Amino acid sequence: MTKGIGTLVIFGAGGDLAKRLLLPGLGQLVDSGRSKDFVLLGVGQESLSTAAWRKRVETSFASSGATGARARALAAKTEYLKADVTNKDDLEKILARCTGTPAFYFALPPRITIAACTALAKVELPDGTVFGLEKPFGTDLKSAEALNRQLVKIVPENRIHRVDHFLGKSTVLNLLGLRFANRIFEPVWNANNIESVDIIFDEQLGLEGRAGYYDHAGALVDMIQSHLLLVMALVAMEPPSSIGADDLRGSMAQVLRATTVFGDDAKTASKRARYTAGTIKGKKLPAYVREPGVDPKNATETLAEVTFTVDNWRWAGVPFRLRSGKALAAVRKEIIVTFKDVPHLPNGFTGKPGPAALRISLSPDDIHLDLNINGQGDPFTIDRVVLSTQFGAGELEPYGEVLSGMLSNDPILSVRGDEIEECWRIVAPVLAAWQKNAVTMDSYPAGSVGPKAWKPAKI
Ligand code: BG6
Repeated sequence: MTKGIGTLVIFGAGGDLAKRLLLPGLGQLVDSGRSKDFVLLGVGQESLSTAAWRKRVETSFASSGATGARARALAAKTEYLKADVTNKDDLEKILARCTGTPAFYFALPPRITIAACTALAKVELPDGTVFGLEKPFGTDLKSAEALNRQLVKIVPENRIHRVDHFLGKSTVLNLLGLRFANRIFEPVWNANNIESVDIIFDEQLGLEGRAGYYDHAGALVDMIQSHLLLVMALVAMEPPSSIGADDLRGSMAQVLRATTVFGDDAKTASKRARYTAGTIKGKKLPAYVREPGVDPKNATETLAEVTFTVDNWRWAGVPFRLRSGKALAAVRKEIIVTFKDVPHLPNGFTGKPGPAALRISLSPDDIHLDLNINGQGDPFTIDRVVLSTQFGAGELEPYGEVLSGMLSNDPILSVRGDEIEECWRIVAPVLAAWQKNAVTMDSYPAGSVGPKAWKPAKI
């Protein structure tokens, strides 16, 4: 339940993120009754009448089915203010429009967030002010450290919500129940029994008009540095004693601190590629470098794969392969835990379908356990069988969950400052190797499975 937030202020209210993800999630949260009453104030650079803003909010709410009385009431009363959030005077005007304790959501590019925080440091903020910051948090380790230092001068760490909406995905949260509410996994969840872990997030979507952001991020920063490393932390962490914010984030941070590029060599542990023209689901896509707003000099990758190692007792030697790309042949979003093969298959058996594997799909939300059993027909031939079930759908979209945490100031789904810095530290050698061109930029036609020379992602 929300405690005490009087006004939710969205910086960057006119942007794509607010329209497509934030507002729809907010509408669902409000309609669910899990939030207390608050006022919504949109802040952006464009001139927008109150009526036009209210219509936008209503439309965004409706896109997630949030058409209930509570969501409609919030949309009917929301206000909009044209302001420059990097300007102290404008920030004071925004504050004057807030009722009660404000929560500021920075739906802004990192550069503007940093400038806004510099200006906010000169403004007196009410006690209890809460910040929500979109990813990417900073643009590298140094800037993330600087932003963290600056933020804690303005509001305490426990009121800073660094948002990663993957932590609000119901299947990602289900990892906790799966791992820690079943005794069968924990005894085998280690390097003695697990061969490798793959975390794959292949999308069919191309750039979708996001060059302004994506061309400076690329697949590594957009997906691996943030979302996928956090998912990896949940897969690999030690069992926490509670799922309270301190225990959970402490366990995740511990894993991240132990994580480095596999073999300590970014050249051999990483691959990158960029899509050329192609066709996806009958739709023609231009080559990435020909997309409007893309500067080929930025050498931005649209597909990245990096292998990491978690150097601790539990995981020493196990490769964690993280891969994500755009404009690929098929949507594939899953975590694959591949077990080691049996030490000895009794002589006399035939058939070799490979070792057992647990596959947790992030979309659709389901889980599969691939096992070997005596096949149909000849009982001495080993065959594959798959046990599958669906995870229950979450009540809210991921942004609804993260906003719920922010509005009730429970940081359980927020990324702690040190975790963000660790994620930047972990990918820093890869970014450096790529900047020096030590790793070739491969290519793949849009709509294909990836570069020919790459082994397809694990089946
Ligand atoms: C965003 C990335 O954070 O996550 C996008 O910027 C990506 O590039 C998206 O497509 C994936 O999230 P979801 O919720 O659509 O699965």
